[in-house]
Amino acid sequence: MHEPIADPANRDAATPGQGMLELGVCYYPEQWPRALWEEDARRMAELGLTWVRIGEFAWSHIEPRPGEMHWEWMDEAIDVLGRAGLKVILGTPTAAPPKWLVDRYPDILPVDAAGRTRKFGARRHYCFSSRRYRIEAARIAEAMAERYGRHPHVHAWQIDNEYGDHDTVHSYSEEAAIAFRAWLAARYGDIEALNEAWGTAFWSMRYNGFDEIDLPNGLVEEPSPTHLVDYFRFSSDQVRDFNRLQADILRRHSPGRPITHNFMSQNTDFDHHALGADIDIASWDVYPMGGLVNGRLSEADKARYLRHGDPDLVSFHHDLYRAVGRGRVWVMEQQPGPVNWAAYNQAPADGMVRLWTWLAYAHGVDMVSYFRWRQAPFAQEQFHAGLLLPNSEEDQGFREVQTVIAERSLLPSGEERQKARVAFVLDYDSRYATRALPQGRSYDASHVAADWYAALSRLGVDVDFIGQHSDVDGYALVVAPDLVIPDPAFVARLAASKARALFGPRSGSKTKDMHIPADLPPGPLARLLDISVTRVESLPPYHQETVLYGNTRFAASGWRETVRTGNDVLASFAGDYRPGAPAVVGNEKARYCAVLPEGALLMKLIEDCLHWAGVETMPDLGDLRLARRGRLTFAFNFGNEPVDAPVPTDARILVGAQKIAPGDLSIWI
Ligand code: GAL
Repeated sequence: MHEPIADPANRDAATPGQGMLELGVCYYPEQWPRALWEEDARRMAELGLTWVRIGEFAWSHIEPRPGEMHWEWMDEAIDVLGRAGLKVILGTPTAAPPKWLVDRYPDILPVDAAGRTRKFGARRHYCFSSRRYRIEAARIAEAMAERYGRHPHVHAWQIDNEYGDHDTVHSYSEEAAIAFRAWLAARYGDIEALNEAWGTAFWSMRYNGFDEIDLPNGLVEEPSPTHLVDYFRFSSDQVRDFNRLQADILRRHSPGRPITHNFMSQNTDFDHHALGADIDIASWDVYPMGGLVNGRLSEADKARYLRHGDPDLVSFHHDLYRAVGRGRVWVMEQQPGPVNWAAYNQAPADGMVRLWTWLAYAHGVDMVSYFRWRQAPFAQEQFHAGLLLPNSEEDQGFREVQTVIAERSLLPSGEERQKARVAFVLDYDSRYATRALPQGRSYDASHVAADWYAALSRLGVDVDFIGQHSDVDGYALVVAPDLVIPDPAFVARLAASKARALFGPRSGSKTKDMHIPADLPPGPLARLLDISVTRVESLPPYHQETVLYGNTRFAASGWRETVRTGNDVLASFAGDYRPGAPAVVGNEKARYCAVLPEGALLMKLIEDCLHWAGVETMPDLGDLRLARRGRLTFAFNFGNEPVDAPVPTDARILVGAQKIAPGDLSIWI
């Protein structure tokens, strides 16, 4: 287990932004004629951008043939950008190995779950376990770091690009199988320990040695959930190790320059907390339109939020990655207009690029970089907007950045995000657990977490994300919607703290080995709660349960548990099946849901818990969202009607007005 780390509110002193939002852009000099570079750099600087990210897909331009290095164009590009006053974030190009490299070493390529080798011709065509690819990735990263590590215009590094994009964390190659066996041998030491953990007495799955073990794909039925969760853990460790290899190289050659990686929305394929320990700043890529279309909301809500996006999913990730970056978070790619890759790609309402930029800042982001400078008239992303049209005319996003820059001068600098009163637990191991053993289709942990976060946001409450390695001191309430595998050390810290806790269903339902705890769920949480879970059900969408909470009846669906408890019953089931059975139970320290609360029940439950923990709430904000950074309060209207912002009488509005138009915002102090 990890050691506790400092809480996310304790930021490093050396914040590059000097306390005010900085802006940047993603640029691909290799994609444009040399004659455009100066003009591009000048226009970026003139617009007010101070950062530019380059290089993350440039390997075949740097090394077009084995060992033949062409640095001259990159030297020049960095000089041109730097001379214009821009700070370069240099990407290591390992997300896109060149053709000659995969031809020479075909075992670099990843293999999908159906056993098909994924071919060259796009990007991310590598397997994290390929020993050859580790050597090659280290070689190119080192060559770049040696050349540019102390370059005056290179101010930060990005390693690779979007680990996990295009479903590339899980590879079923021979290289992965070899590495998995070694990983298992290191984890279990003795094959009998593995047999025990995986429950191989079941269905005669016994192994005599680690060398007999295969990856969990292509089986007749599902694998042992422990086999699967171990494979997910192993794959996560492979990503962390791959990243660490490059981080160590960059640190050696480029002291003092922060290292980042750009994470994605809704990706839990690897443990971001663990990887975050090896980088200096977490960054992530913000594509709210695709997030809405591919996301959790009903079709009616997707239609309602079509051009404004899910009001909570973006903030969720700002807060999550602020924790992953231990207080330091950037947006490396901000959607500047319509994109190309979701199921449908609608344009955002005019004004949303500005809104998303301020939303990021309000949630603790210090730098927002737009993807991309100019729309590409060729290749895969032709439908993806840039700040400029393909002919270099300014597009809508460009004009909105101008607005942001004008508004920035109206705000004081040095305002920092304060520690929240509510901590929100996201545990990646627990995500692997529900993925490996879902028990029906009605439970999606990522949707559950987003729904709970949304309820907190609608009540105007700021939250900090934590992992099980984190300290909980100073929080009034710890909210854990899906803590399936609680770490006893975390539970002990929680027990010793003054924080109260709210747990969602399935919390504590599995041990590290993916077994039902010996004394029944919620396993180690029995330290906080006097309950045992004796039955769980996943429920189809055509059935609704009724829950009686106070004097009100609420609908609930999807999941139900039967619990025995010596604690107070705060809500109970009131339908035909086992009427009177506890639905929410608790004591003065912790509460547990035997129901999957949604909609009105979720709002009521979260509101009551906040009051129980002494956290102040706002009346349901509807489509308005608030966030605080230092003395500043930001209000964002994601709805389609104007709303009145709750501006205190003694406050001064710095941006916007008390009445906020759809897709607009205001900021007060
Ligand atoms: C990101 C990726 C970028 C670009 C962008 C398009 O996932 O990092 O390289 O493809 O999506 O929206």
